[in-house]
Amino acid sequence: MAAEKVEKLDLNQLPRVDTYRTWQEAQKIPIINGFFVEDIKTVEVAPWALTGGLGAFIVLDGTGGVNDAYVCEIPPGGKLKPQKHLYEEMVYVAKGHGATTVWQRDGKKHSFEWGPGSLFAIPLNAHYQHFNGSGSEPARYFAVTNSCFMMNLFHNLDFIFSDDFTFSDRFDPSVDDYFSGKGTIHGRFFMSTNFVADTHTAALKDYSERGAGGTNMKFDLAGQTMGCHISEFPVGTYKKGHRHGPGAHVIILGGQGYSVLWPEGQEMQRVDWRQGSVVVPPNQWFHQHFNSGARRARYLALRWGSWRFRFMKLTDSEGSTYTNIKQGGGQIEYEDEDPRIHRDFEAAVRKAGAVCQMGEHHPRCSERAAVKAG
Ligand SMILES: [Fe+2]
Repeated sequence: MAAEKVEKLDLNQLPRVDTYRTWQEAQKIPIINGFFVEDIKTVEVAPWALTGGLGAFIVLDGTGGVNDAYVCEIPPGGKLKPQKHLYEEMVYVAKGHGATTVWQRDGKKHSFEWGPGSLFAIPLNAHYQHFNGSGSEPARYFAVTNSCFMMNLFHNLDFIFSDDFTFSDRFDPSVDDYFSGKGTIHGRFFMSTNFVADTHTAALKDYSERGAGGTNMKFDLAGQTMGCHISEFPVGTYKKGHRHGPGAHVIILGGQGYSVLWPEGQEMQRVDWRQGSVVVPPNQWFHQHFNSGARRARYLALRWGSWRFRFMKLTDSEGSTYTNIKQGGGQIEYEDEDPRIHRDFEAAVRKAGAVCQMGEHHPRCSERAAVKAG
């Protein structure tokens, strides 16, 4: 008897529902894809009926469907529409000055002012409205949200935008100084706060675990499950290579340099950055950040996984992202990295007119060799 011919499995033939994608396309604003954005301050934006401003989505390859971003511009003297949604949102002000009002259903209104570099989160499902404080200059912000995750999880937009549950555990309107910027520090650099006035100048603490004189501060904003941190590294240095899960939007706050990114065992890719650039390392790709410029480099990472409400593993292994990969973590120590990494860095700093300062940290630094020989 002849065997029955079995049809080949093809998931693409099945009717798939992607609620987020459908919603996103209906917004009729530009959608930027790829690996890297050179400058969020100059990304082209178009009128966006939902917000009453101008916007563009930024959906980079490395987000893995856990979060993504958009830029929104408020015209001079303008304001956006009041909004409310059942997804988390972190806001970084890329340019301009303004104010935001946040309130719970029937609750007291809280207003706070922001300027270039400010960082805050919209409390989940709270009402809010943004205002441009300047009559002559546009204001523009970059936001990372988990709307893709939440919209596809519930796949019901009415629930996402119209449900009126009040999360008073995340934002209690009777707390007068909620957006004052005060915070509580836990451990060395874990901070609970709801507003950072200027990420470009915020005080950071030692983070030598990631190498070469680096400093850091990790924020827990508005009780979110998404997390963020600011990281800085001195002139002539670079961080250790490491890998973790998807969705870390790295926004360059200052300085000049580059990042290399590579999936294990494959070719490295390089992106050159400056203030306003954004790169998202794809899921479990190794990546490494280099300061090749003449001043300190600082970035802000808006990502999945707050330190306070963590519940998903960020590495494939048992250790953390700053534990040696040989001990089950996600980090490559300087002595174990590909020799090309340090060679290319020395060439890059020389080209920028700076000097490699990796001598005391790196076993293959030529400065170190010179010191020893001397
Ligand atoms: Fe990273």
